[in-house]
Amino acid sequence: MKYLGNSPENLFQRIKKAVRNYESIHGKGSSINIAVGEPDTCPPETVRKIVSKNILKSDNFIHTYWDNRDPGNFCRNFVLQATGLDINKYENIASLVLPGEKAMIGLLPIACGANIEGSDSENSGFVKTSPAYDLVGQWADYLGEDSFAWPLYSSENFALNVKNLPQTGKKPKMIITVKPGNPCPAGASREDWESLIEYCIRYNIRLVNDGAYTSLTHKSHTPLCEVAKNYPELDWIEYFSISKAISACGWRLGAAIGSIDFISELTKIKGNADSGPFGPALVGCEEYFDLPESKIEMQEIQEMYKRRLDIALPIFAQAGFELACPVDAGFFMLFHCPKKLNGEHIANAEEFNTMMIDNYGLVGVPFTGADVNGESEQFIRYSVCSDFEKKENQDRVVSVLEKIKIEY
Ligand SMILES: Cc1ncc(COP(=O)(O)O)c(C=O)c1O
Repeated sequence: MKYLGNSPENLFQRIKKAVRNYESIHGKGSSINIAVGEPDTCPPETVRKIVSKNILKSDNFIHTYWDNRDPGNFCRNFVLQATGLDINKYENIASLVLPGEKAMIGLLPIACGANIEGSDSENSGFVKTSPAYDLVGQWADYLGEDSFAWPLYSSENFALNVKNLPQTGKKPKMIITVKPGNPCPAGASREDWESLIEYCIRYNIRLVNDGAYTSLTHKSHTPLCEVAKNYPELDWIEYFSISKAISACGWRLGAAIGSIDFISELTKIKGNADSGPFGPALVGCEEYFDLPESKIEMQEIQEMYKRRLDIALPIFAQAGFELACPVDAGFFMLFHCPKKLNGEHIANAEEFNTMMIDNYGLVGVPFTGADVNGESEQFIRYSVCSDFEKKENQDRVVSVLEKIKIEY
């Protein structure tokens, strides 16, 4: 028996299959995997020491279920170091510890009353920015709810332009943005947030920003919280994660901050889905993010990616790749997908990526964006989660790019 229909295989699983196929022919480790957005370094030693001290404590309090509790100031300390905003100074800002962001993104539609008739909102469905790794759309599908793409255009530097919001009849219950973005690493401006917030207040829409890459800002970006704090009428949440901020993906820890109503509904749903994060990491990170070193060490991680980008971007530019937007934050480079590879016409980014893997072992992630003149924008994303400061890593990529001829 099956209930979920035949949706296509997960994008990343399809890519991994192509990599396995390449390596079965050319040998293990022969592919160049610059697709993943997973840090290749470890959390700073300072935080590892503090967390290990907590692991060794014979104190049930640390090792038990944390449920929805914060030991005191984890969210406040982490968000302060990541954004500069001290949430303890604002009575209208609530917070919630997250066991990482990913599963908690799936809970957002439920916390907005997906499929609940008779709630005090007339709104329905969800809006998410596009291009995206679309978790909210996936969850809306599971819940039998509608979700609509808000096209962000490369020609507008992937700005949050309210004029491009989908007009779907009823207004949505929630709009979710990813800023600084993945796959498009563009930040957001104060003015963009102000227009979007005013729209959300006017139409009773909840606003969420996934700020996973906030502390990795290289150029300019204004976090949502910095602006939303001035709008007590707005129902909003901003998510943050330690995964990329301190290279601790496996520790599963993050923070949500936002308006009291929205955080309290998310807290209720989360209480029935999760029993809290790993206690020694939570307690240890609360202490770590209280130290000035934590800000310095997060900055060092940001600077490491910036150095790698300063090496990798010219390598791709030399081969003719056209950036879809400058890299304001994080470790992704998003390029327009070439129209031809070695003279052969390319149908879309998925085909380009498959050809690059099959023929050269160079692995990226394809994305489809908004429609422009009847055709959807096609992008290929590569990351610098591999150490481009090492000559041998540069040489491997250069040796592939020297073999190809791309055209737009
Ligand atoms: C935009 C974005 N949000 C969230 C996540 C996942 O965060 P976490 O590790 O906290 O689940 C990722 C990871 O790739 C991401 O790119």
